[in-house]
Amino acid sequence: VAPTAEPVCVIGASGPLGSALATRLAHAGVAIVVGSRDEERARETAARIAETAREGAQVTGFANADAVVHAEVVVLAVPFAGQAATLKGLRDTMRDGQLLVDATVPLAPAVGGRPTRVLGVWQGSAAQQAQELVPGGVHVVSALHTVSAATLGDLTQALDEDVLVCGDRREDKRRVADLIHLIPGLRCVDAGKLEAARIVESLTALLIGVNGRYKTHAGVRVTNLPDELWAST
Ligand SMILES: NC(=O)c1ccc[n+]([C@@H]2O[C@H](COP(=O)([O-])OP(=O)(O)OC[C@H]3O[C@@H](n4cnc5c(N)ncnc54)[C@H](OP(=O)(O)O)[C@@H]3O)[C@@H](O)[C@H]2O)c1
Repeated sequence: VAPTAEPVCVIGASGPLGSALATRLAHAGVAIVVGSRDEERARETAARIAETAREGAQVTGFANADAVVHAEVVVLAVPFAGQAATLKGLRDTMRDGQLLVDATVPLAPAVGGRPTRVLGVWQGSAAQQAQELVPGGVHVVSALHTVSAATLGDLTQALDEDVLVCGDRREDKRRVADLIHLIPGLRCVDAGKLEAARIVESLTALLIGVNGRYKTHAGVRVTNLPDELWAST
């Protein structure tokens, strides 16, 4: 597998979702830059992901603010309780034109509530809060909320599910879809503007309930869509 030209930074790659995504992308040949609050943990995480992904995988690790410098696409996979502080810490090093892919779910455990419930976020969603916190020239796309880290992180498991992608600019969503489509079995669906993220984020809470009931790692599939979802017109 030839590495793609564009590296991807994953903030929170030491956690289940970030680690799973980074591993799948590295497996597909994408160079990964791991970001962590702790530089040593970033390096350890990078080594672990590289080992799991495949021989020759390009995975490096830096403290969060340094990590974002190395990629045009930055994935944010941290708990809602840490989202604002994390983004404030990236303000000085994120630059115009970068894309932030926000996977944050404002689950109620952030304030001691149940994981089957979401919190109301003043801006409408965690993704819209992210857009408010990044520098002006950074665009936010919301994605990956309904993909279970357990399934994504297990390279022996075949994936077969949709990723609902929200964002205010179609070209940004297509860029994210092109990236996610490097992972076999994931199909991106344009789920509308960034404001629609409030609906998608709440689906995670719904799926956590379903998973508990059926002892599984459920995803979503939108039916009756055309074959080509990302045509340029
Ligand atoms: N797990 C899933 O299946 C899944 C699926 C869809 C969406 N999500 C969402 O994706 C995000 C990440 O999920 P996760 O389960 O991987 O989360 P997690 O394990 O709780 O956290 C991920 C990483 O974020 C960093 N972190 C932890 N607490 C933090 C804080 N207070 N401030 C800043 N950084 C902090 C840690 O990395 P460092 O210590 O290295 O900085 C941690 O390893 C969450 O918003 C979650 O709701 C998860």
